Amino acid sequence: MKLEVVILAAGQGTRMKSDLPKVLHPLAGRPLLQHVIETALELDPAALHVVTGHGAGQVRQALSAYSINWVEQEQQLGTGHAVLQAMPFVQRDNVVLVLYGDVPLTRADTLRALVTAATDGPALLTARLADPTGYGRILRDAQGALAGVVEHKDASEDQRAIDEVNTGLLAAPAADLLAYLPRVGNDNQQGEYYLPDILSLAVAEGRPVSSCSADSELEILGVNDRVQLNQVEREYQRRLAEQLMRQGVTLADAARIDVRGSLDCGTDVFIDVNAVFEGQVSLGAGVSIGANCVLRDVDVAAGATIHPMSHLQEASVGRDCNIGPYARLRPGTVVGDGARIGNFVETKKANIGAGSKVNHLSYIGDCEMGGGVNIGAGTITCNYDGVNKHRTDIGDGVFVGSNSTLVAPLQIEAEGFVGAGSTVTKAVAEGELAVGRARQRNIAGWERPRKQNKD
Ligand code: UD1
Ligand code: CA
Repeated sequence: MKLEVVILAAGQGTRMKSDLPKVLHPLAGRPLLQHVIETALELDPAALHVVTGHGAGQVRQALSAYSINWVEQEQQLGTGHAVLQAMPFVQRDNVVLVLYGDVPLTRADTLRALVTAATDGPALLTARLADPTGYGRILRDAQGALAGVVEHKDASEDQRAIDEVNTGLLAAPAADLLAYLPRVGNDNQQGEYYLPDILSLAVAEGRPVSSCSADSELEILGVNDRVQLNQVEREYQRRLAEQLMRQGVTLADAARIDVRGSLDCGTDVFIDVNAVFEGQVSLGAGVSIGANCVLRDVDVAAGATIHPMSHLQEASVGRDCNIGPYARLRPGTVVGDGARIGNFVETKKANIGAGSKVNHLSYIGDCEMGGGVNIGAGTITCNYDGVNKHRTDIGDGVFVGSNSTLVAPLQIEAEGFVGAGSTVTKAVAEGELAVGRARQRNIAGWERPRKQNKD
C-alpha cells in the first residue's frame, strides 16, 4: 500500500481580505502551501495532488518548481467535493492523506502516525481545544469510538460544548474514499459536501474508523485571517530560534529574530536583536551579527563582525572582516579576509581584496580592488555615464585620498596614490601619485564681506 497525498487549496480565503490567494501568503518568506508541500514530501508519497480553484493559475505558477499533479476544482462545493476531484488520479489500492494548504505547521511524525492508523479504514486527526468555536466537533459513541463529525454551524448546543475537534486532516484507504465520497450529500447549513461525512458512512457500514491526536494546538492551527497568519509566523519563528540556540547559537532575544529561508550557523555565533535573515544565509564560527541587520543570500566567514544597522544582499564576507555599522553591501559584493567596510559605505559588484579598508561614506561599484588598499572617506567610483556601466580597477596597496571621484573606466595600478579631493579620469601607473584638483591659491589681505545697512 503506497501513500498518495491530496492537498486542498481551492478555497478563496475571504477573511484574508487580500488579492493574493490565501495559500500564497508567506510564512517565513515562503507561501503557506509550500510549507505543506515540503511536509508532505517528507513522507515520500507516490503522488502529490493539489486541488486548486481560486487563483489556480497564480498558485500553480508560484509552486511550479515542484512535481505536482494539479487538480482543478471549478466550484468550491466543499472539502468532500474537493477530494473527489482528485480521486480519478489516485490508485485504488493506495492510502490517501488529505492535508489543507492553509494548515502549515503539522509535523511529519504526526502525519506518519495518521497514515499508519489508516491502513484498514479511515483515520482522523483530532485535537482538544480550549476554544473549539468554528471547528467541526468529534462525535463519539458510549464506548468512546469515533462516530462522526458535526460542523459547528450544524451542531446543537450540547454538541458545541464538545472540545474535541476535527483538525481537518484525514487519511483513508483510497477504496474507502471511492466508496463513500460519492455518497456524501450537501443537506447541511452550508450546502456543502463535507469530507468528514465519510466517517459516519464508514461507521454505519461497520468499517473500522480511528483517530489520532495532535501534539499541540499550534500544529493544527489553520490560517483563515491575518491574525492567525501572524500566530503561525510567530510559532514558526519561535521553533527556529529554539533550534538555533540548541545548535549553539547565542540569541540576544529569541523573540526578536526572523529567518525567512535557511540560516546555517557555525559554533559560537552571536545574533543581536532584530536581525532578519532571508534566502540562504550562512554564518561561520564566531560570527557576530549586530542589532537591526538584514542579510539576504549572504555568506559570512568565520570570525567576521557585522555591526548594527547593516544591509547585505547577495554578498560574501571573508574571515575576520568588519562590516558596518550602517554598511550596505549590494549584490555581487565579495569582501576578502580581514577587510573593513565602515559606516555609510555602499558597495555593488565589487571585489574588495584582503585587508583593504573602505571605512567611511563611499560608493564602490563595478570595482576590482586588490589587497591592502585604503580608500579615503567620501570616495566615489563613478561607474555610470548615463548609458553604460564601467569598471574601476584598483591594484594592491593603493591609497585613495578622501573625497576622490574615480571616473570609470579607470585603472590605478599597485601602490598608486591619489591625492585627496581628486577627480581621476586617467590611468595611474604603478607607484605614481595622481593629483586631480585645482591648485590652492592663498590671497593675502582679502577682506570679508560686511553686513550691509538696510536703508
Ligand atoms: C474544515 C472541516 C472542519 C474542521 C476544520 C479545521 C469540513 C466540512 N470541515 O472546516 O470539520 O474542524 O476544517 O480547520 O471539512 N477547500 C477546497 N475546496 C472546497 C472547500 C474547501 O479546496 O470546496 C479547502 C480550503 O481551501 C481549505 C480547506 O479545504 O484549505 C478547508 O476548507 P474550509 O472551508 O476552511 O473548512 P472549514 O470550514 O475550516
Ligand atoms: Ca478553515
